[in-house]
Amino acid sequence: MNKNRIPMIAGNWKMHLNAKEAGELALALKKGLNPDLPHEVLVAPTYTNLWAVRQALAGSKIILSSQDVHWEEKGAFTGAVSPAQVLDAGCTHAIIGHSERRKIFGETDEIVNKKMKAALKHNLVPVLCIGETLEERESQRTYRVLETQLAGAFSGLKAEETVRVVIAYEPVWAIGTGKTATPEQAQDAHVFIRRQMEKLYGKDYASRVRVLYGGSVKADNIDSLMAQPDIDGALVGGESLKADKFLRVIHFEEALAR
Ligand code: 13P
Repeated sequence: MNKNRIPMIAGNWKMHLNAKEAGELALALKKGLNPDLPHEVLVAPTYTNLWAVRQALAGSKIILSSQDVHWEEKGAFTGAVSPAQVLDAGCTHAIIGHSERRKIFGETDEIVNKKMKAALKHNLVPVLCIGETLEERESQRTYRVLETQLAGAFSGLKAEETVRVVIAYEPVWAIGTGKTATPEQAQDAHVFIRRQMEKLYGKDYASRVRVLYGGSVKADNIDSLMAQPDIDGALVGGESLKADKFLRVIHFEEALAR
């Protein structure tokens, strides 16, 4: 982490929990969170659990996010949820371009770009996910993939429109596998991402944008990840479903030492 950027710890609850369980987990996080922590904490429950979690989080500073958002305003888009509906459910942020959306639901960089534009138009903060597969890494294509995904996601967007965007680097091979990128591998990718953002929007922008790491982040590896200067937080899957573990991730060592 770098003291000029506010860290963010985000929990992606994916397609887990019912409304009652999600509400209970949110309440446990609210109770366990040190209110003096300066950084941002975010949870992204399933759509159907947003209301329960919103109620549980009332009065806390924990940020509510959707796991996705559609690009259209309204209409015949069965199964989709619009930016206005996500805002209405109490979200201020939306995860966009998660690798599971790309892989399982066929989302392309063009779709990700449409979603980025729609979210920003409605003042929803995108948490943009990018990352390479194992095959891409092993064939030395990591940088090329990251560059293409970033260029695609930000296409047609001006710097001033995207100042609040948070980027999450999630190498696909590290998601749900227990195989975390080493702090050095993650740092290396984050530096590359920052350099790409510098090319797109300039030095000042690149020095401010937050880049989270995601992929098997656990209570016992968060400290070494956050010790890296270009890792500004984490996007956590499995470990964010257990209150005690996720609270330990949130209260990472350097945060407490601040
Ligand atoms: P895991 O932490 O379960 O590997 O999931 C990471 C992720 O995909 C967060 O969006």
